[in-house]
Amino acid sequence: MPAIQQLPPHVVNKIAAGEVIERPASVVKELMENALDAGATRVDVAVEQGGLELIRVSDNGGGIAPEEFALAVASHATSKIRDADDLFRVGTLGFRGEALASIAAVSRLLLRSRTRTGDAAHELEVVGGQSGELMPCGAPVGTTLEVRTLFFNTPVRRKFLKSTQTELGHVAEAFTRLALAHPGIHFTLRHNDRLLHELPAGEPWLERIRRLHGSELADALIWVESTDGEVELAGYVADPSHSRNHTRMQYLFLNGRFIRDRALQHALAEAYRGLMLTGRQPITYLSFKMPPDVVDVNVHPTKLEVRFQDGGRIYSQLLGALRTKFLSTDLTARLQPVGAGVGEATHEPWARNGWRGAEESAPSRRLDGYAAAELFAPWSPPASAPLELTLLDRPLPPASWEQAPASFAPAGPAPPTRVEGGHPVPALQIHNRYLITASDDGIVVIDQHALHERILYEQLKKRILAGPIESQRLLVPEPVDLSAAEAALVVEHRETLEQLGLEIQPFGGDTVLVLSQPVLLARVKVKELLAEVIERLQAGGRAPERRDLLDELLHMMSCKAAVKAGDRLAAPEIQALLQQRHLAEDAHHCPHGRPTALVFTREELDRQFRRI
Ligand SMILES: Nc1ncnc2c1ncn2[C@@H]1O[C@H](COP(=O)(O)OP(=O)(O)OP(=O)(O)O)[C@@H](O)[C@H]1O
Ligand SMILES: [Mg+2]
Repeated sequence: MPAIQQLPPHVVNKIAAGEVIERPASVVKELMENALDAGATRVDVAVEQGGLELIRVSDNGGGIAPEEFALAVASHATSKIRDADDLFRVGTLGFRGEALASIAAVSRLLLRSRTRTGDAAHELEVVGGQSGELMPCGAPVGTTLEVRTLFFNTPVRRKFLKSTQTELGHVAEAFTRLALAHPGIHFTLRHNDRLLHELPAGEPWLERIRRLHGSELADALIWVESTDGEVELAGYVADPSHSRNHTRMQYLFLNGRFIRDRALQHALAEAYRGLMLTGRQPITYLSFKMPPDVVDVNVHPTKLEVRFQDGGRIYSQLLGALRTKFLSTDLTARLQPVGAGVGEATHEPWARNGWRGAEESAPSRRLDGYAAAELFAPWSPPASAPLELTLLDRPLPPASWEQAPASFAPAGPAPPTRVEGGHPVPALQIHNRYLITASDDGIVVIDQHALHERILYEQLKKRILAGPIESQRLLVPEPVDLSAAEAALVVEHRETLEQLGLEIQPFGGDTVLVLSQPVLLARVKVKELLAEVIERLQAGGRAPERRDLLDELLHMMSCKAAVKAGDRLAAPEIQALLQQRHLAEDAHHCPHGRPTALVFTREELDRQFRRI
């Protein structure tokens, strides 16, 4: 093994930079935090090429005196704490004195600043950690930092960076977090000279949320507040009809700092338990204020996580505040009533009360209503007859279900039904969710939603090989407001979405224009569809393989277009489903892996009734 050596400072700094600076968004966060710590009332952020080429943050804060320039970019140099005890009194966002040094080590940095008392501004260039000469220049009071070609001298790290759109998405998210945490400050965000956000100072918090995340969400927010000793909690939570399948929309702030906290996320999930489907996550904007000495903010490289002295108490405070609020708020009044005949048998908790979440109450997607399925597998519904009569009056059709497994276990790879010439199969719908039909060997119980979803999925999968899925032009293209990160994501995956029949164009700011939508989902509201798509795009937080993504979106589309548990089906619809059963290559499991049918063999029934 080679001899042990002290690493030279420039290597140490590059290593240290790796912890704090992961991508352009990390630079944006650090520079914005410095501006806020310097008492700025206005912070302007501009990036080029998603921050890969340039990041510029200008503020009107106190500025840096010329004799302190060198220290500002040196590691472990800070004006914010003096000794270790100060860590528990820290009222600033920064305190480690390493952000600028880290950034300077891996970029071309230009620092320009003027203090309130200084008669001139100065600038200093630092390239890969090497400082140039301090030069006087003209500039207003405040500080501007420009960071060019991040990771130019660590090519491997630069290679890890993603596309412009993805990096811009992260930048916008970093900006959003700080802008939400500091509503009293005027912020702007520009990308390639395009103004993405202009957030005036001093508007109510709800207005800031509205500007960043749109009116639809802002209108669904409920005010919550609570004080427990020295801990104050205040903010907004979304009513349960607005949710996500991830926790990224759970904005939690502690003393002006955006934080992630598993325990608090758990408290949120608990508070919404019974109000949301499993797997859905609430949306929140909550701000905690507490004395700095009851929380350790020095436990995570980017200060994203903190450690509370009495985490249990804060957990209970959050859970208690939300529960009390939900008990005293008529949540159902915010949800839309269930359509006739829908809901009584569904498992959604609000359906039990006769109410359904707005996002679940899309127009009933009946077999007779989805025109596009006919494009994929045309069927002519047999004349409808009352089901009871069908069962009693008509002879059973020739053997259709071959060889079923001899147990109650989910059906194995039994050969699918094939009904000749559209001959009706006797079948009964029960509880508006299961279809029961006979096999020559016993009875089969089918989950109507799971089967339909599987059929559609198989059809779509075949269909997409031949070219883009049929789409329908909207009469009037529909603009949809998104967050900057969401808009970036959608635009990045434009081509894939086009294959699915969803045509999208950027429309300035964070708005995208939807030009067409898949015929199959013509009844789904454009906004709702886009929200679903975005969730799939964001799932897992990694860049999915194009094929996986396509597959995921096909699952989503088939699930959305399929009849639901709770939909009462007319006889022709039941027949159509059963007759298309053979179209599904693996009709026994829906795309989510749940079985589509259970087979009860006659032998098993005989045994249960003690006939054998
Ligand atoms: N925009 C700014 N306006 C005024 N002073 C600044 C600005 N940016 C940095 N400074 C000064 O430079 C010092 C170093 O900044 P840097 O971000 O590296 O460290 P820090 O903010 O003290 O701690 P941390 O590493 O936790 O962010 C700060 O302590 C502050 O005194
Ligand atoms: Mg800092």
